[in-house]
Amino acid sequence: MKCIRTKVIGSGHYLPAKVLTNDDLSKMVDTNDEWISTRTGIRSRHIVAEGELTSDIALKALEMAMKNANISKDDLDIIIVATLTPDNTTPTVAARIAGKLGVKSGTPAFDLGAACSGFVYAMTMADNMIRLGQVKTAAVIGVETLSNIVNWEDRNTCVLFGDGAGAVIVQASEGEGTSKDQGVLATRIYADGTQYDNLGTDGGIATTRTAGYVHMNGKEVFKFAVGAMSEASHAVLNDAGVTTADIDWLLPHQANIRIISSVGQKLEVPEEKVIVTVDHHGNTSAASIPLAISESIANGKIKSGDLVLIPAMGAGFTWGGMLIRF
Ligand code: UT7
Repeated sequence: MKCIRTKVIGSGHYLPAKVLTNDDLSKMVDTNDEWISTRTGIRSRHIVAEGELTSDIALKALEMAMKNANISKDDLDIIIVATLTPDNTTPTVAARIAGKLGVKSGTPAFDLGAACSGFVYAMTMADNMIRLGQVKTAAVIGVETLSNIVNWEDRNTCVLFGDGAGAVIVQASEGEGTSKDQGVLATRIYADGTQYDNLGTDGGIATTRTAGYVHMNGKEVFKFAVGAMSEASHAVLNDAGVTTADIDWLLPHQANIRIISSVGQKLEVPEEKVIVTVDHHGNTSAASIPLAISESIANGKIKSGDLVLIPAMGAGFTWGGMLIRF
């Protein structure tokens, strides 16, 4: 039966110029390349320059996505930004981007907070609004400057994170209602607030009046992430009536190569179909998925017609999955 699908018509990404390697980190804290690369798979990450804001890097990713989608700012009906590192406490990064880009007054723009699952949440919002006919063309951005909330003296956390931005332009298109359609075929989002203390920052507006630093119970997060991302993947595959054998790529949130590999093994997806960017991006939270999407389209991995399974998990705990045919 004919239906409206949310099709990805363009993507973009931006990484700050400064690269911080594991060797650089070993001069800052008691760590080494061997520990970081074997425990996490991370070799380098990008860090914003002094004065380079979350909105600056998001705007660069968005401009690339708009160029690739061949649309102008006047075509945008909404801007949704997934982030946990806004320029200011308020207004939103989305409002800042709308202002800097000069989108027409009245265009809705908002930030969404779901930590590392933020982009899956944001795409779910965009997909629902498009399928309801409320908007036709949406910019969905994931962006972080996590370097601003990392304690650079804590080796347990500072080696894990990076900065970056990714964006997609999605647009309503007509589908046949089958899994052969291009676009978002299924999304699922979840949360469990009883896990609040296992991952987050140790401060905030109402608690310490500071942003705080990232802290986590790494082992709990690790275990939960593998189970949650696998279950969310099965849910969206079932919703779309396909199996892991049908997918071209597994593109999980990029936190740790061991989490990514475990999810791949649980889902029985061969290693060569798993997209990995954590080695050169680190964990960029809400930016990791759109960064990996845009980079994989740019380097020719993800091609038109490919079916991509995208699970994520983050602070809250939040988790979710989406299945997109590009
Ligand atoms: O996006 C979602 C957010 N986060 C995640 O998904 C992260 C999930 N968790 C993880 O990725 C892993 O749990 C970590 C990478 C954070 C840690 O790996 P692990 O294998 O669980 O290591 P561990 O915490 O058990 O630490 C092992 C040892 C400890 O030393 P002792 O107590 O055994 O002597 C740590 O002090 O490694 C030590 N250690 C380090 N050593 C060198 C911790 N960080 C470092 C470091 N360099 N950077």
